[in-house]
Amino acid sequence: MECFHTWRILVCFVCFTWTVSLGDSGQCVWYGQCGFDPATKKPVNCAYNGPAKPLQTPHAVSLLKQYCPDLYQGDGTRTCCSDEQLKTLVDNIAVPVQLLGHCPSCLHNFLNIYCYMTCAPDHSQFVTVDRTTPYVDPKTGQKDLQVNEVNYAVTDDFAVGMFNSCATVRLPIWPSAKEPAIGILCGHSADECTPKNWLDYMGNTGNQQTPFQINFNITDKPYINRAGHLVTPQNAPTLPCTPTHTQGALPCTCGQPTKRPQFDKHFPPIYRTEQLIVRRTGHHPKIEHQDPPPAISTTTFSPIFDKDFLHQVLDLQDKVYALRAPYDNHNDNTVSLTDICFRLHHTDCTILSVLNYFQNNGTRIDRVVRDQPFGFFTLADYLDHLKYCTWVPESKIDTTALHESCLGTDGGPTYPWTAFQGFDGYNYQNATALVITFVVNYDNNNDAEKAKVQKWETTANEFVKNYALHQPNMTLSFSSETRHRGDKPSLTLIG
Ligand SMILES: *[C@@H]1O[C@H](CO)[C@@H](O)[C@H](O)[C@H]1NC(C)=O
Ligand SMILES: *[C@@H]1O[C@H](CO)[C@@H](O)[C@H](O)[C@H]1NC(C)=O
Ligand SMILES: *[C@@H]1O[C@H](CO)[C@@H](O)[C@H](O)[C@H]1NC(C)=O
Ligand SMILES: *[C@@H]1O[C@H](CO)[C@@H](O)[C@H](O)[C@H]1NC(C)=O
Repeated sequence: MECFHTWRILVCFVCFTWTVSLGDSGQCVWYGQCGFDPATKKPVNCAYNGPAKPLQTPHAVSLLKQYCPDLYQGDGTRTCCSDEQLKTLVDNIAVPVQLLGHCPSCLHNFLNIYCYMTCAPDHSQFVTVDRTTPYVDPKTGQKDLQVNEVNYAVTDDFAVGMFNSCATVRLPIWPSAKEPAIGILCGHSADECTPKNWLDYMGNTGNQQTPFQINFNITDKPYINRAGHLVTPQNAPTLPCTPTHTQGALPCTCGQPTKRPQFDKHFPPIYRTEQLIVRRTGHHPKIEHQDPPPAISTTTFSPIFDKDFLHQVLDLQDKVYALRAPYDNHNDNTVSLTDICFRLHHTDCTILSVLNYFQNNGTRIDRVVRDQPFGFFTLADYLDHLKYCTWVPESKIDTTALHESCLGTDGGPTYPWTAFQGFDGYNYQNATALVITFVVNYDNNNDAEKAKVQKWETTANEFVKNYALHQPNMTLSFSSETRHRGDKPSLTLIG
């Protein structure tokens, strides 16, 4: 453009600043969801080059405010994520929220990785789409492109600030364990975790949690040139991890746990527990378990975690589940656990048990994942899953190579302090007894229901006594107790 005259110069200048500022202020690289990634089978986004749009529902606005407060600008906030994308984001971050939630500044910084990438109204500044696949909406027939791989530039300051605020955060449930929470999120033991390999692991679909490949580029440059496109690395301010509330920092209890969640918050006001406590008879060696590579540490488990023994306990639990107690002498009626049990999600009976970390399924206890193609190393087995579930009992998918759920057959969690006895602090691996709790309905005003429960208890008690006589390697005790919701679960030792 030629700019000879003053007014033309002015026009040119305006054009120029307008062009640059449009580039500078950025726009969206995606909006909305376009089916599932062919490799990960998880929801992915639709490519879109245009301005950010307002969120549609008050619910989405409240999610943004809760999880991505830096991006919340009041009603009418514009984002590059649709309501649906925001809901998916919140689902995808469930495990980190659980692991880091007791350290708000670390969690805030960590979530910002995903908040800025998914929703920031100008994320084209730092997110570049590297791979797309054509997608046709099955309902409307509309043609789109789904995004399968992106490059995400972040500054050193952001990556290191985020990392430092999280590096010492202990696991919420097992804080006396040496391993900080990042040991789980990093794919490396905590000692070997760096800002780079943490982000590399979080972005790699190989971790089975990430829906599409995110290639992080950590840089100390204010701009980088990617294929002729000027990229401004994401540089959100990070909150430092401080033990007390100070200016500019959220209070953070790094290194100390959150309170134990109340395990019966969804139970009826009055319920009854049928508790079976199982010990292993005799002297048996402890189990030295190699932690999954690349860690070189080991965890020592008490002999009750022997795999064959757990199979025997599962067999016993199944037998109790299947018991049929005579109920009505006149017409051969029987009552079984399924007639009286409490069902958390109206599905299977609620049973709090270490075996429910495996959905009471012997095949899952036996699962082992080895390295490919040689199979020299065990990458994960039942003990890795079990250990993970005592950390994150509400997880639908563990971050070990097994990728199994910790939720029981009723869809609910088993908190480790209800499933074990005889451990010190949070060292559940030292437990000397397994506790299996069958939760049953017990309405004080319903005599018929109470009668059924009593019949079942009598039969169960007899059965367990008899079973113990014929099981040389188990010591069993059985007890029943009426409880009121919110009461501290009693940990009285019986037998
Ligand atoms: C990150 O950006 C720098 C600077 O442009 C470049 O040299 C490097 O190759 C990039 N890394 C990745 C993984 O894209
Ligand atoms: C349990 O006892 C039986 C019979 O004595 C024995 O064969 C079995 O190996 C024992 N199992 C364990 C895990 O101790
Ligand atoms: C037990 O788990 C295996 C492996 O996940 C599965 O194939 C099988 O269907 C499960 N059995 C039951 C009864 O759910
Ligand atoms: C329990 O476990 C911890 C950590 O693994 C260990 O240091 C401690 O000695 C164990 N306690 C007992 C009583 O075995």
